[in-house]
Amino acid sequence: MSLIGQDSKEEITQRFARHESSGKAEFFAQVGVDYIFGKREGVYVWDVEGRRIIDCHCNGGVFNLGHRNPRIIAALKRALEELDIGNHHFVSEHRALLAERLTSLCPGDLKRVVFGVGGGEAVDLALKLARGHTGRLRVISAQGGYHGHTGLALATGDEQYRKPFGPLPPGFLHVPFGDLAALEAAMDGDTAAVILETIPATMGIVVPPEDYFAGVRQLCDRHGVVMIIDEVQTGLGRCGDVWGINTYGVIPDIIVTAKGLSGGIYPISATIYREHLDGILRRNPFIHVSTFGGAEVGCYVALEVLNILSEPGFLEHVREMAALFQQGFERLRASHPGVLVEARQRGLMMGLKLSNPAFGPLMTLAGFHHGLLTIYANYDQSVNQLLPPLTIQPEEAAAVLESLDHMLTWLEHST
Ligand SMILES: Cc1ncc(COP(=O)(O)O)c(C=O)c1O
Repeated sequence: MSLIGQDSKEEITQRFARHESSGKAEFFAQVGVDYIFGKREGVYVWDVEGRRIIDCHCNGGVFNLGHRNPRIIAALKRALEELDIGNHHFVSEHRALLAERLTSLCPGDLKRVVFGVGGGEAVDLALKLARGHTGRLRVISAQGGYHGHTGLALATGDEQYRKPFGPLPPGFLHVPFGDLAALEAAMDGDTAAVILETIPATMGIVVPPEDYFAGVRQLCDRHGVVMIIDEVQTGLGRCGDVWGINTYGVIPDIIVTAKGLSGGIYPISATIYREHLDGILRRNPFIHVSTFGGAEVGCYVALEVLNILSEPGFLEHVREMAALFQQGFERLRASHPGVLVEARQRGLMMGLKLSNPAFGPLMTLAGFHHGLLTIYANYDQSVNQLLPPLTIQPEEAAAVLESLDHMLTWLEHST
């Protein structure tokens, strides 16, 4: 018996509203989206009634390798024959193997790893390391950045998500992204860390000036500040290199990765840091622990993610697909100048800037009718995020561009 679509959409929605999230159920009813994920495979998702769409959201990169990638499923099955979660208190063969492999894909002396379950947790640890190492309090992040909803990560983010839960904890400052002068002005002798996404997704896939990160690196070096780069969405091949920050030629002190490391199958995240930051954890290795962080089954799955990422031709394929999209976006800009303002892109980290904030949600809605899952950026709703699986093939990319063409035409006629 299939696990999918045992009940009608109405029954599923009512049960969900009763026991899971009434708010989400109401929201999606209001905006006219009745899509409930059913079968999924490769770049495609079907809803429980069988309507197929191409996933160009990928949950922010969780599905970098497509849905239910057969190699990832095989790795999970293999792991289940011998492993379980493991015991995080002890030395672990599989955490060690994954840490060795992950750091071999990092530049410089980013040679140490602590595993977590999700991105927020990994960000929290990055900030703890920075504070513990420097003995300073202040943390600077970007206005409109997003690093998760856990403790310290929440404080780096937007007010709307933290206000109901009390005042901003001391030491957190927010500056405009891409603005080196503002960053410099905010830094002082009590600044522990700067944390930034390489391409902030929730802000609207904002590609910073080419020299921005080199400037951030210089400022951090000058003031003894730990530079943390959140690669939860931009990492693991998304920007055409292993890490998005590599494309700017800059080595941060800490890289945070999550989503895609799971292969879309087993949650895992990692905080990767430079040797000199190890002191606090070496002195007290139990000062930060996570029962499920780096679960051994998940380590084996993540290792296969890294095997695929490191294969010859993988990153080249991402860059080739990115070039196809770039050409396609130029055609779309020429044929829809009234609504499509700008195509933002670094590899397959992509976003379409539209001429009106109301258009992002409308494009999302249109996508459901034209076979495409694309979600607007929460902090700039005039931008639709486009993150297809990195494994997308040329004919699938052409189908995405054709759907976008129809959606933009619909948008023009609906205004
Ligand atoms: C850039 C970035 N950082 C951190 C996070 C938090 O990750 P998680 O939801 O796994 O805690 C997210 C989640 O969307 C993200 O996009």
